[in-house]
Amino acid sequence: MQLLDGKLVSETIKEKLKTEIESYVSQGKRKPKLVAIIVGDNGASQTYVASKERNSKAVGMDSDIIRLETTITETELLDLIAKLNNDDTVDGMLVQLPLPKHIDANKVTDAILPHKDVDGFHPYNTGQMVKGVDTLLPATPYGILLMLEHYNIPTVGKHCVVIGRSDIVGKPMSILMSRNAYPGNCTVTMCHSKTQDLNSYTLRADILIVASGIPEMVTGDMVKPGAVVIDVGITRMDADNEKGYVIKGDVHFESAKEVASYITPVPGGVGLMTIAGLLMNTLNAYKKHVGIEEAYTV
Ligand code: GUN
Repeated sequence: MQLLDGKLVSETIKEKLKTEIESYVSQGKRKPKLVAIIVGDNGASQTYVASKERNSKAVGMDSDIIRLETTITETELLDLIAKLNNDDTVDGMLVQLPLPKHIDANKVTDAILPHKDVDGFHPYNTGQMVKGVDTLLPATPYGILLMLEHYNIPTVGKHCVVIGRSDIVGKPMSILMSRNAYPGNCTVTMCHSKTQDLNSYTLRADILIVASGIPEMVTGDMVKPGAVVIDVGITRMDADNEKGYVIKGDVHFESAKEVASYITPVPGGVGLMTIAGLLMNTLNAYKKHVGIEEAYTV
């Protein structure tokens, strides 16, 4: 078994991005700028957004976090997005999900200009992705592609099983793994909470991508010997330690690692690759914005 090391791969990508950004700045161009909006005080969301800011600064980008009270109205949030859409110094923006119930997340993601949509959630970007046109891709699936590419994992003709059908991970991941490109060209099966006899699918997966949100639901006995296992889960579980929680993936790592050929750890796997995908998107958005042509895609 070999670990798919999100720390190593994301650091390698960040080094490349840092060098590229330094070269633009030395040519007199401004830095790329990412703005993240967070509503309320969800602990996990605060951690993710702080990490996005820290990492974007580490590669030489400008980065702002806009923190809003849960009481903000949908209209106020849409007005703020319109302002950032019109701000020529902003290359990319994202609104951290989940949002409070009184705010329609679809309305919010649809309000972000597609070319500033570094989460790749806007229907324009979804449509381009489905058509196989280069575009801003959802950050987690994009990060997983970057991980597969880094380790040269063969994907052509493989059976890829995706567990989960969310707009953020499961749906786009299924589309990307079946596209006619590398990584891709898989035969894809998408499973979800209503799938019957889940094991019969997972046991036939050469590449198993688990994004169910159910901690440790995939155990070693569900994994085909030699499979590549990608664990997208990040659930905080109460624990009697200093932080008060531990992070669990959707895969039971200890049993699955005995069967898999490659496996992502949690933490230290896909979570860090999501940030790498976001930074790649932000640099791509910046390059389009300031007129640097050769975009940087998988
Ligand atoms: N919440 C969980 N994952 C994500 C993500 O990739 N982007 C945003 N904006 N919110 C999230």
